[in-house]
Amino acid sequence: MQKIRYLLATDLDGTFVGDEAGLRELLDYYDSLPERVALAYVTGRHRASAMDLIRGEGLPLPDILVTDVGTSVFAGPELVEDLGWKQRMTENWDPQAVLRTAGGVPGIRLQELPDTRRVSFYSDGGEPAEKLKYALSAEGIPHTFVFSSGRDVDILPENGGKGAALRYVIGKFAEENACVLVAGDSGNDLDMLMLGYPSVIVSNARPELLEAENHETLFRATRPCAGGILEAWMHFHGSAADIKG
Ligand code: GLC
Ligand code: MG
Repeated sequence: MQKIRYLLATDLDGTFVGDEAGLRELLDYYDSLPERVALAYVTGRHRASAMDLIRGEGLPLPDILVTDVGTSVFAGPELVEDLGWKQRMTENWDPQAVLRTAGGVPGIRLQELPDTRRVSFYSDGGEPAEKLKYALSAEGIPHTFVFSSGRDVDILPENGGKGAALRYVIGKFAEENACVLVAGDSGNDLDMLMLGYPSVIVSNARPELLEAENHETLFRATRPCAGGILEAWMHFHGSAADIKG
């Protein structure tokens, strides 16, 4: 795969997807550019669910698909799983231990998923999620804890998450000094928005992101979803004429 020069790395639900007119505007703008902007979708969904959304919404196929909250990376025209990342995500990962520990925590319900790349739950508000977090630490189970939208709890392998996966993807597939924009709307996007790349929090973001700390290249859009991405792309990477072939 040729190294990427321009990259939009975006969450799907509530970010790339959610405002059809805004998405049309963003994609038309990208089409008008002399250079192609590569797409990385970085989603909490599992692969089949992400593909359903991509087909259902008629989204362009991405160059890179990061699924399951950053625990899986697929790349290239066939979206083949990246085995280097898979290897990292299976070292030190004991989903059975997570399940055992979670069994004793009231107020959480296991999400049905096709495999155990991650173990995810629905929490009745923040308190059960906090209890699970505490229990996992008390048991000394290596993991990454992610809480989103006041409900979704993702327990990931140690060093997992959208941020870690995106850093890996950029290191492997992008040119040094590539033009990157990272976009998100909820808690599972936080770590990738904090990597230090030009990043956008769309205006419809969940409260957990509205409270996120600022950094120099973090842009808070006034528009929701893809319209906010376009606004941020213009802010960081300028007009079409600024992209040199
Ligand atoms: C998506 C996934 C869900 C996950 C949530 C937060 O909604 O489908 O499994 O818990 O994102 O990451
Ligand atoms: Mg989202």
